[in-house]
Amino acid sequence: MSNPSLLILPGDGIGPEVMTEVRRVIDWFGAKRGLAFDVTEDLVGGAAYDAHGTPLTDETMAKAQEADAVLLGAVGGPKYDELDFSVKPERGLLRLRKEMDLFANLRPAQCFDALADFSSLKRDVVAGLDIMIVRELTSGVYFGEPRGITPDNEGGRIGVNTQRYTTDEIRRVARAAFELARRRNNKVCSMEKANVMESGILWREEVQHVHDEEYPDVELSHMYADNGAMQLVRWPKQFDVIVTDNLFGDILSDCAAMLTGSLGMLPSASLGAPQENGRPKALYEPVHGSAPDIAGQGKANPIACVLSFAMALRYSFDQGAEADRLEAAVEKVLADGVRTADLMQAEGGSPVSTTGMGDAILAALD
Ligand code: NAI
Ligand code: MG
Repeated sequence: MSNPSLLILPGDGIGPEVMTEVRRVIDWFGAKRGLAFDVTEDLVGGAAYDAHGTPLTDETMAKAQEADAVLLGAVGGPKYDELDFSVKPERGLLRLRKEMDLFANLRPAQCFDALADFSSLKRDVVAGLDIMIVRELTSGVYFGEPRGITPDNEGGRIGVNTQRYTTDEIRRVARAAFELARRRNNKVCSMEKANVMESGILWREEVQHVHDEEYPDVELSHMYADNGAMQLVRWPKQFDVIVTDNLFGDILSDCAAMLTGSLGMLPSASLGAPQENGRPKALYEPVHGSAPDIAGQGKANPIACVLSFAMALRYSFDQGAEADRLEAAVEKVLADGVRTADLMQAEGGSPVSTTGMGDAILAALD
């Protein structure tokens, strides 16, 4: 039987720097845990534009469709700011998401004990926090028609976007959330604005329907998204899995992420429909961008990308115990006080480099 395949797209800025550390982690699992992957590396974003004049070639797109999972670093940077919209680095990422039909975006907000004082909230509120926001990623107001800016009759202009969801779009992301809940603590909170939006009423009814028909064992609650935002900062530990639409999910996942501190710590997964082999189409990537302000200086925190690989182990390769092992190694390194610059409090101490953090994670794995 062939090894599972992994397509690696380091991208731009700090993307290649953090991915170098992840490659070492992947190699460790091959050497020490007998978990070998067929790894292919390719270009995306500005790097692909420089080489091929497009942020994602058809060949790379085809490789992504065939891979069991894709791991991406980051795309973009000031060098590409003047490019035409159609070839901007971000278009490479958008094309991957769209053509792989990755409709469920998983954003964990997890608080490592050693970093609890790093949060802007009280230690008590965030210590031990481990929640997952599932954001619908391919529909809703960012894609709905009609859209545009048109003149009105009084010499002004009208800007229009349309929040639009079909039954199927709601049901499939609801299923993704319920499946996830069964692997966690069997609890889902669905968020919308059913009090003021028809699309929210449909959302609530369809999520309830999927629950009653297919997942009656999972505890389901509904909350208006504005209250959800308040509850997230008041007492986030009341939640386990949160499922919500594209717009609310964009905002709520960023809000939840910041409960736990640095951008350099945050992984994500974007999943599509289950394929014949049972694996979902999947793209794993850190939440952060290419960080041009620190690129090339060895300062980037590789943990977000390392934890993205841990998510791949769990959700694409059914290696939950190995994912736990990797997360425990990260936890140990943090508990030992190893910090990249982004994790330093004002008081000081001296930070480790990107490679230094990689070294520490490998040592903890050993
Ligand atoms: P950013 O996430 O690249 O950086 C924001 C701030 O966080 C910077 O000060 C940066 O140094 C810091 N930071 C980010 N990741 C870090 C890490 N791993 N370790 C330590 N510090 C870290 O967001 P920004 O500055 O808004 O965007 C920069 C470029 O990245 C732009 O071209 C943007 O379009 C692109 N971008 C790409 C994303 C992606 O590939 N998914 C996501 C967000 C932005
Ligand atoms: Mg956002």
